[in-house]
Order: sequence, then C-alpha cells, then structure tokens
Amino acid sequence: MKVLGISGSPRRDQTTDKLVKAILDATGLETEFISLAGKKMNGCICCLGCITDNVCKVQDDYLPVMNKVLNADAIVVGAPNYFGRLNALTHAFLERWYCFRHDATGKGGMRLSGKLGAVASVGGGGEWQMPGRENRMYEIAGDDVKGFFAYNEIEIVGAVNVQGAVPCFTCGYGELCRVSGARMFFGNDVKITEDIIPCLEKQPDVLQQARVLGKALGERLKK
Ligand SMILES: Cc1cc2nc3c(=O)[nH]c(=O)nc-3n(C[C@H](O)[C@H](O)[C@H](O)COP(=O)(O)O)c2cc1C
Repeated sequence: MKVLGISGSPRRDQTTDKLVKAILDATGLETEFISLAGKKMNGCICCLGCITDNVCKVQDDYLPVMNKVLNADAIVVGAPNYFGRLNALTHAFLERWYCFRHDATGKGGMRLSGKLGAVASVGGGGEWQMPGRENRMYEIAGDDVKGFFAYNEIEIVGAVNVQGAVPCFTCGYGELCRVSGARMFFGNDVKITEDIIPCLEKQPDVLQQARVLGKALGERLKK
C-alpha cells in the first residue's frame, strides 16, 4: 500500500508542504512526497491525445507525477488559497488528471476510481470568511481539491485546514500597506515579529487533526 502526497505550493518547506507531510507520516504506510514547486506544469490543453492510452501528451513535468498518481493507493493533495481560490499550480496539475478519464481498457470511466484521498488546505486568512463565499479562507483551496477528487471518483477520507503566512508578513511593507494582511489581523499599529507569523507549528490542534486524518487513511488502506 502506498500513499502519495503532493503539495501544490510553489514555496518549499512552508505550511502546505508541512501539512501534507504530517498527514503522510501518520499513515504508518509507505509514502512518497512530491512538491510541485519549480515544476513546469501546464494546464490541460484539451488536445485529447490521452483518449486512447490514458497518457498525457503535453511535454512538461507532469508525466513522472502522473505515473505516481496512477500507482498510488491513496493520494494526499495540499493546496494554498491564492486570491480567494485554489492556486494556479495545483489547479493546472489537477486539470491534467483528465488523462485518467477514459479507461484505455475500453470500459470507460475514471482510472483513479476507488482510490482514497485526503486534503490539506491552506489559506493565509485562516478562519476569516471569504467575502461573497460561505467558506473560510483556509477551506477554499481544499474545497476545490475535493471537487477534483469527487470528479475522479476518489473517496475523500478527510480534510484538514490550516492558516499559513500571508506574504504581507515578509514583503517588507506589511506594517504600512493599506491592504496589508498583517494590519488586517493585528491592527494598523502592528509590529511584525517572528512570534506573530502564523505557521503549522503554532497550531497544535491542526497538527493533531493531521495525525488523526493520516492514521484514518492508513487504517482504511490496511483493511
Ligand atoms: C498571490 C497570493 C495570493 C494570496 N491570496 C490569498 C487569499 O486570497 N486568501 C488567503 O487566505 N490567503 C491568500 N494568500 C496566502 C497564502 O494562502 C498563504 O501564503 C499560504 O501560506 C501559502 O501556502 P505555503 O505557505 O505553503 O506557500 C495568498 C498568497 C499569495 C502568494
């Protein structure tokens, strides 16, 4: 049994990577972690080149990852919220799952059907409600990933949401900028210091939820 974890954050070793790894570590099974950071990942171009053999023909870094997705028993996808939605890198990657849609054996249907899935969802706004949507900022990217899972008939075992650090904490203008996330969270007189920057380690309840989810995923697979 193998669990594949994929982080769609373009930043390595930040909140999304860490949350995916926490879920993987708790499965008790063989795992592999892949970061999409630095990978060239086009969206689906609807060339339909995959129709007869389930192999995507777009020449970029997707193909090796595609084979790992196909061979995994469970898939954990981690994604951050950018501009109130799933970030483009994760979206582009998940669009490429179109190649699994037509079962080359001729049966039709989804080749990922029956696999298990778990979601690691990240948003700098945390529990802050997204204007015009019912979701909280840290739920949005994960909800979109769940949509891709459902489309591909992957059973969703669970999701964990965590607040990451908005770039405003490190861009250099966070204490002054009119639209600074740091000022929004801590007020206009905020002084940005390390201890106010959100990260996974400062949210032990979320880490615990990740462990519970990873364990549940592992137990489901062992059955
Ligand atoms: C271009 C960009 C847009 C963002 N927009 C939002 C947003 O609308 N809502 C939100 O909650 N966080 C937003 N964020 C913050 C990210 O969700 C946050 O930085 C998250 O921690 C990124 O994941 P990572 O730390 O794994 O890279 C944005 C970040 C970037 C870079």
